[in-house]
Amino acid sequence: MPTSEDATRSYYASADVDAFYEEVWGGEDIHTGIYERPGEPVADASRRTVERLAARLEPGPGTRVLDLGSGYGGTARYLARRFGCRVVALNLSERQNERHRRINAERGLDGLVEVVTGSFHDVPYADGEFDAVCSLEALCHSGDRPRALAEAARVLTPGGALAFTDVMAAEDAPAEELRPVVARLGVDALATPSFYREELAGLGMAEVAFDDHSEQLVHHYVRLTEETEARRAGLGEVISQDYLRQLLTNLPLWVDASRRGRLRWGIFHARRPAGADEAAGAGEAAGAGGAGGTPTPAP
Ligand SMILES: C[S@@+](CC[C@H](N)C(=O)[O-])C[C@H]1O[C@@H](n2cnc3c(N)ncnc32)[C@H](O)[C@@H]1O
Repeated sequence: MPTSEDATRSYYASADVDAFYEEVWGGEDIHTGIYERPGEPVADASRRTVERLAARLEPGPGTRVLDLGSGYGGTARYLARRFGCRVVALNLSERQNERHRRINAERGLDGLVEVVTGSFHDVPYADGEFDAVCSLEALCHSGDRPRALAEAARVLTPGGALAFTDVMAAEDAPAEELRPVVARLGVDALATPSFYREELAGLGMAEVAFDDHSEQLVHHYVRLTEETEARRAGLGEVISQDYLRQLLTNLPLWVDASRRGRLRWGIFHARRPAGADEAAGAGEAAGAGGAGGTPTPAP
């Protein structure tokens, strides 16, 4: 088990972190948003990201979709409601999963969305079980991204679509410069776009493409900083002063790193080859990335 999993579990188990994601991000979609207007609510922009990613998957009614690192379930519920597909939401955080299950039941979506506690480093499903796999800003937490991607490719059916977003380092960004930025997440280093491209190609995935929306990072982190500052007094009732101070120190670092072009963000998408020969190649490649997967190289 990559040590990153312990750090991730304790990060998302924190009442402060939970309250921050609930109050400032909207408690539904906790990933970078795509903004169309200045000052747009974080939750609206974050939902737009789900819509863009979903357009890359287009799951049909009754198809099976796996969401890796599913948070509070905003993506899973959107996919189930919009497309009528069945979603397995795999997530490490039991705290988030409890809330996720409760919201699904309240909205009558528990028949379509199954919430499973587990890790994307060891996906508890057989090869080829899913028509589509997605993940939104969860791989940044991984201490073994090759293994997580190999697992995603392994459980995809031939012809199945993969789409994910992640916050990444620019190719030339020094890892030590980004360390204080990503420290809030308990993350050591980020992947880069070329790292994901190479990994996906190495797994035999086809149609690998990256919709680069890096410019959104500045908008997103400016909005998060503004919201946190504007609501500081109210937030102080649900978030400890110590964590609020940490947030108001850390969020501007994200703004600054984004402005200086040190971070990248967007939607990767790819397809597992449909042809029998190609699919076998992808399966072998996926298997090869298993337990022995190497740690992510420092960007
Ligand atoms: C920034 S949140 C994004 C949540 C959700 N995808 C969304 O966009 O709203 C990152 C998520 O990744 C999950 N995660 C991190 N490492 C994981 C792992 N090894 N296996 C499963 N989930 C993981 C966390 O528990 C958290 O829910």
